[in-house]
Amino acid sequence: MTTTDGSPPAIHPARPDDPPGSLLPGTEEYAEDPRHYGIEHGDPWPEDVPHGQNDMHWRYEADPRGARRAELRIAACWSVTLLCGIGLAWVYVAGGQAQVEGALLGAAFFGLGTGFVLWARDLLPGHDVIASRGGLTHVSSEDDRRLVVQSLGRGLEPMARRPFLAKMLGGVLTVFGIGLAFPLASLGPRVEGQFAVTPWGRGTRAVSEDGTPVKPGDIEANGVLTVFPDTGEYLGSPAMAQSAVLLINLAFAPFEVLPGREDWHIGAVGGGNCVVGFSKICTHAGCPVSLYDWSSHLLVCPCHQSTFKVIEDCKPVFGPAPRNLPQLPLAVDSAGYIVSRSDFNEPVGPGYWNRPIRTNPFTGKAVRYS
Ligand code: FES
Repeated sequence: MTTTDGSPPAIHPARPDDPPGSLLPGTEEYAEDPRHYGIEHGDPWPEDVPHGQNDMHWRYEADPRGARRAELRIAACWSVTLLCGIGLAWVYVAGGQAQVEGALLGAAFFGLGTGFVLWARDLLPGHDVIASRGGLTHVSSEDDRRLVVQSLGRGLEPMARRPFLAKMLGGVLTVFGIGLAFPLASLGPRVEGQFAVTPWGRGTRAVSEDGTPVKPGDIEANGVLTVFPDTGEYLGSPAMAQSAVLLINLAFAPFEVLPGREDWHIGAVGGGNCVVGFSKICTHAGCPVSLYDWSSHLLVCPCHQSTFKVIEDCKPVFGPAPRNLPQLPLAVDSAGYIVSRSDFNEPVGPGYWNRPIRTNPFTGKAVRYS
C-alpha cells in the first residue's frame, strides 16, 4: 500500500503479543510503513527511499531445498568443531602435544565461525534497506525506537525456526566447552600460603651465590651484595629465588629507622658502615631489583623501572611497584657473620602476594588465592 497524501498507512496488530501498532513483517503494509524508513509523520515519501522494501528477505526464502542444503553445510562445519573438541580432550588426556592441541583448537574455532557466517548469509534476513536520513535535527521518535526493538526481537525468530541447527549448536558447544575445560587441570596445585614464608629465620646465615658466609666488612661502603639463606638448598629452587636479599652498605647515608626496627640493621646509622637488607624481589612483578645508585640511594628494577628509595624504607618513588620492598631483620652471630633475626614480617614479591591469608574451611590450610 502506498501513501499518496503523506499520511502513514493503517496499522494493525501483527500478533497478540506485539505492542499495539505493530505490522506483520513481509506484508505490504509493513513494507510501506514510513516509520521503518525514518520518514516523519505527515512528511511526503522521499524520492530516494524505494517503495516495497523487504528487510525480512533471506537468501533461500523461495528455495526450501537450497535452505536444507545450507543447513547441512552449516552442520558439517559444526561437526568439525565437535570432532576437534573430542580430539582436544583426547590429545590432552594422552599426554598433550602443544602443536596438535593448537591445530585442533584453531580448526574447531574455524568450523564454528564458518558455520555462523553461513547461517547468517544463507538463512537469516540480511537484506539492505534504504531509509531516509531525515533532517539534521532528526531524533528518533518513540515509534522509531519501538520498531527497532521489535525488529531486533524478530531477528531471533528465523533462528528458532531451525530447531535442528539450534540443537546441534547446543551439543557442539557443550562438547567443545568440555574439551576446552580439560587444560584447566594444568593449572597446577594452589599456591596457598607458600609465598608468606621464606627459609629465613632466627639465626639463619646469609651466604653469597657461591655459598660463602658473609661478614659486614665484606660489603664495601655504598656497595651491595646479593645473599641467600644458608639452608644448603639449590639456589635455583623457587624457595631460594624468592628469598634473595640485597645487603646494602649505606655508609654515611641518613637511613630512616622505623619504630620497632631499631635493631634490624648492622652498625650505626650514618656511621660509615651501616648495613641493611631488603628483599631483592620487586613488588611489581617479581624481577630482581639490583641497580643501586648510592649517590641518590635509589634502587631501580630493570624490568619496568620501579624505583625504591632505600633510606626511606625502600618505598617506591617511581614506576608500577605498589609497595615497599620488605626489610629483613639482620644481626651478627658470635662468629661475626651476618644472620637474619627472623623471617620477613610480610610476604616478599609482587603486591598480590601480599593479600591476606585466609583459612580454607575444608582443608584447614592457609590460602592466599581463593
Ligand atoms: S618487575 Fe620490577 S618494575 Fe616491574
